[in-house]
Amino acid sequence: MEKLLQGLRAAAEPTRLRIIALCGHAELSVTELVMVLGQTQPRVSRHLKLLVEGGLLQRNKEGNRAYYRLSTEAEGAGLARMLNDLMPGEDEAHALDLSRLSSVKADRVRYAENFLDPYSQEITELRGMWPSDEVIDKCILELLKDRSIQNLLDLGTGAGRILRTIAPFVVKGTGIDNSLEMLSIARARLDQDGIKNCQVRVGDMYRLPFKQNSFDLITINSLLRYAEEPKKVIEEAARVLEKKGALLIVDLAAHDLSELRDEYGHSWLGFSEAEMLEMLSEENLTVARVKHIDGQKLNVCIWLASGS
Ligand SMILES: C[S@@+](CC[C@H](N)C(=O)[O-])C[C@H]1O[C@@H](n2cnc3c(N)ncnc32)[C@H](O)[C@@H]1O
Repeated sequence: MEKLLQGLRAAAEPTRLRIIALCGHAELSVTELVMVLGQTQPRVSRHLKLLVEGGLLQRNKEGNRAYYRLSTEAEGAGLARMLNDLMPGEDEAHALDLSRLSSVKADRVRYAENFLDPYSQEITELRGMWPSDEVIDKCILELLKDRSIQNLLDLGTGAGRILRTIAPFVVKGTGIDNSLEMLSIARARLDQDGIKNCQVRVGDMYRLPFKQNSFDLITINSLLRYAEEPKKVIEEAARVLEKKGALLIVDLAAHDLSELRDEYGHSWLGFSEAEMLEMLSEENLTVARVKHIDGQKLNVCIWLASGS
């Protein structure tokens, strides 16, 4: 009862209602909210603090920025959703906020387009050597098609490609990356695609900011070949994977193009089936399916493993 009252008190103010409505459309930083609301940063920050304390918003720190979204976990999640649904569409202030919000989103997209993704050079230069993203995505979806997925975690999400591919088939998805720039790109692309059930967070794949047994599907696409210690990444993924959850790894099959180490920073020349099976079995994960996709010079392998 007290928590509900605190939530209602937090919401009962015009600017705070506007913030709730805005966060129902996108995850926003304080700076972005200041731009949309046209109020000073201290004022906006104070409103945000009360909304977080009231359980209506969730705050996620990313570098020296914090992002706010409607709460999905705190006790106030239901109230936040209800208030957001009740927001009158024809309200003038709300309509103006939404039009300012679309400029903020356009800025995000411009930023994402201007940022030079450090992996884009490799993708451009090696495209043609390995199978296309479209072919890989089709195989991923085929492998996952009989599963009902509640809570997806994508490690080293980059521009969020895997989240965007799997989003229609999951209840909720989270992408983790340690690059703030890549997270900005992912956020802009998720927005552009109108995906609301997925979010991205800063995090280190060696020390995931989640409790054990948190996800029923974890994806690791084009990541392990750059990792100094792929075994540790799998170990950490296994920790946060539900006991009967699935781990989907997509990476290059073992190859001998050793120049990829120096030219593109690959720590591993792909993975043989035996190497992958060993790393997975050490975490008590059993390989359920393996899919090989041949490219011109480099082949890709998808391993779908699960706990027992
Ligand atoms: C080649 S990209 C792969 C992107 C994505 N998985 C995809 O399928 O397009 C590798 C990503 O891993 C991220 N990364 C590298 N080291 C990481 C770490 N220790 N923790 C989290 N992310 C990391 C990089 O920032 C980069 O975005």
